[in-house]
Amino acid sequence: MNRILITGSLGQIGSELALELRKRYGNDNVVVTDIRRVEGSKAMESGPFELLDCTDANAIADLVKKYRVDTIYHLAAILSANAEKNPQLAWNININGLYNVLEVARELKCSVFTPSSIGAFGPTTPKDGTPQDTIQRPTTMYGVTKVSGELLCDYYHKRFGVDTRGVRYPGLISYVAPPGGGTTDYAVEIYYEALKNKKYTCYLKKGTHLDMMYMPDGIKAAIDVMEADPNKLIHRNAFNVTAMNFAPEDIEAAIKKVIPEFTMDYDVDPVRQDIADSWPNYMDDSSAREEWGWKPNYDLDSMTDDMIEKLSKKLNINI
Ligand code: NAD
Ligand code: SER
Repeated sequence: MNRILITGSLGQIGSELALELRKRYGNDNVVVTDIRRVEGSKAMESGPFELLDCTDANAIADLVKKYRVDTIYHLAAILSANAEKNPQLAWNININGLYNVLEVARELKCSVFTPSSIGAFGPTTPKDGTPQDTIQRPTTMYGVTKVSGELLCDYYHKRFGVDTRGVRYPGLISYVAPPGGGTTDYAVEIYYEALKNKKYTCYLKKGTHLDMMYMPDGIKAAIDVMEADPNKLIHRNAFNVTAMNFAPEDIEAAIKKVIPEFTMDYDVDPVRQDIADSWPNYMDDSSAREEWGWKPNYDLDSMTDDMIEKLSKKLNINI
């Protein structure tokens, strides 16, 4: 990777990935793009920024040529809960946007990182220790686009030799940029509410186990898989990766260790509960560990300590 372009860079992942890539590869070598501007965003202001709609293939090609890009991190997408509100938009952005990126990568010889998700699995997938290669019959539009995306990326590698790689992210937790309308967003909101109001009403019910990961590990996964030795990769799109799995009551207990007066109740949202119930309880990420040395640094307690420390500074709240 010498010259990198990121799509959808001002969202939850891109806001932090852009800064880490710029630290490693140089500010001018990482082109940050998004369909919108976010005033005050460090990712937007610390190096080249361009407005880019990933449904416009010519615009992607123009920027790849202008900046002599060799690697694309394609993050632009509609997440699970928002995709259920507007499935047509989700199909257009998640599928046609990815197709455009892959076509540009084929023509202009770029490598491509595309995140998939725990949402690529469905109710008939084995729920505990979900294997790398298993049944994928998702029942959400988000999942349909993620499975199709995994297959399309593998096809471009096999058929055209495009260096495509990806991971199946679990729910990502971070304090820099807000999450973009997913089912796992409660695990971010809960920290804000714990600090601001000492209480949180959770929209998923007790006992809903899902894989999760702290953003520094998510960024590490994206960079490590792209820097991995291609000769060691048996899989490409997309590797199961996880760092922890928990249910709402587990994160409540972890927060209580730091903020003892914190309380949580429940008001279940049937749409997001249905989505969560169709996803794995926890994935087996041994292929990522074996093929490119994946290993997360944060568990629930160490993430909670760091989130509360960083967020209390950001929100200017003493605990
Ligand atoms: P996000 O919603 O926070 O950010 C997406 C960005 O894409 C936004 O800044 C948005 O403005 C931009 N965008 C929307 N439409 C666009 C278009 N037509 N052209 C260009 N940009 C457009 O999402 P995120 O959490 O940063 O996720 C990035 C990727 O990682 C997605 O593919 C998502 O499915 C995947 N992922 C995320 C998580 C998570 O927990 N955050 C988990 C699994 C997978
Ligand atoms: N965090 C994401 C979502 O809930 C998982 O892909 O949509």
